[in-house]
Amino acid sequence: METVMLGANGHDIETAADILRNGGLCAIPTETVYGLAANALDEQAVRNIFIAKGRAQDNPLIVHISDISELPPLVKEIPDIVYRLAERFWPGPLTMIMYKSELIPDAVTCGGDTVAIRMPQNEIARKIIKATGRPLAAPSANLSGGVSPVTAQHCMRDLSGRVDAILDGGECTVGLESTVISCVTNPIRLLRPGFVTVDDLKSVCGEVLVDEAVLHPLKDGVKPASPGMKYTHYSPKAKVIILNGDSAAYCNYVNQNGGENVFSLCFDEDISALKVPYISYGGENDGAKQAERLFYSLRELDDMGARMIYARMPKSDGVGLAVLNRLLRSAGFHVIDL
Ligand code: TXA
Ligand code: MG
Repeated sequence: METVMLGANGHDIETAADILRNGGLCAIPTETVYGLAANALDEQAVRNIFIAKGRAQDNPLIVHISDISELPPLVKEIPDIVYRLAERFWPGPLTMIMYKSELIPDAVTCGGDTVAIRMPQNEIARKIIKATGRPLAAPSANLSGGVSPVTAQHCMRDLSGRVDAILDGGECTVGLESTVISCVTNPIRLLRPGFVTVDDLKSVCGEVLVDEAVLHPLKDGVKPASPGMKYTHYSPKAKVIILNGDSAAYCNYVNQNGGENVFSLCFDEDISALKVPYISYGGENDGAKQAERLFYSLRELDDMGARMIYARMPKSDGVGLAVLNRLLRSAGFHVIDL
């Protein structure tokens, strides 16, 4: 199939909605990363998402809505905490897991009894959902295992010939995927960190459990709370190694280990002392900037022909927890303490 590139105007949004209503696949912009959308209530369309991405059959999808009024039919019950969190963080980069209703096909949840729901902040995304008149199932619009896309061109590179259309809404502002929490437990449990931080969540619900898998590889035989955590993820073509140390120690190590196609993924503070080619992904203390630049930079480094990337380790507070969570997976948890 030929993949059409659509713009963000009213006409093209209607075209995307037509494609989605007719069971097709369309990559759409959100504030976090681009999503590969299908009508969440159309079992076959949802199955086609898994085929287009090469996604494992046991990794469930997030369902996207454009207004809180669309939530009740999709879930069995809405815990009070969901309303309180929605009031504060929706629309926005927060995904909440609840028990699913009969309306949600098994293909979305991979047979599970819970469903993940999110209302994106990106207005184009909400317009597409509204125009389609259906909730949209959408994982990140990359080939499974690869780096999530933050531009329409990234989507085209991964999915050209595999999906009906890609709607170009410009570059994603958050740059990495939504915070995922389970609301079927009390207290709520953080399964995937994102731009909505642990402290943000605590300010609304008091207590938040952070799942082991957020910063540690799963132990053999342990069933993950979020299946997405068990797979190799966010991997560029290059090998990534994280270096844990201050600016001086980092630059020293990288300068000594430089060579052909060896690149640095550093912070702004490191630039002046580096003697190898680099991309900076933000300031040392600027988690939001690091989030915005991480996936973009990993894809750039691949384009530059990197074979080895030495990444400076981010701090684990605030949004930094999400940056570290993604980078650890890009590196297969390979960290060198300096
Ligand atoms: O920001 C985002 O969340 C983006 C945009 C497109 O909205 N979407 C996204 O989807 O990141 P995906 O499929 O790449 O990641 C969804 C994660 C996976 O780790 C999956 O295992 C988990 O959410 N998940 C989905 N439904 C779940 C459920 N019912 N229980 C536990 N984990 C679930
Ligand atoms: Mg993904």
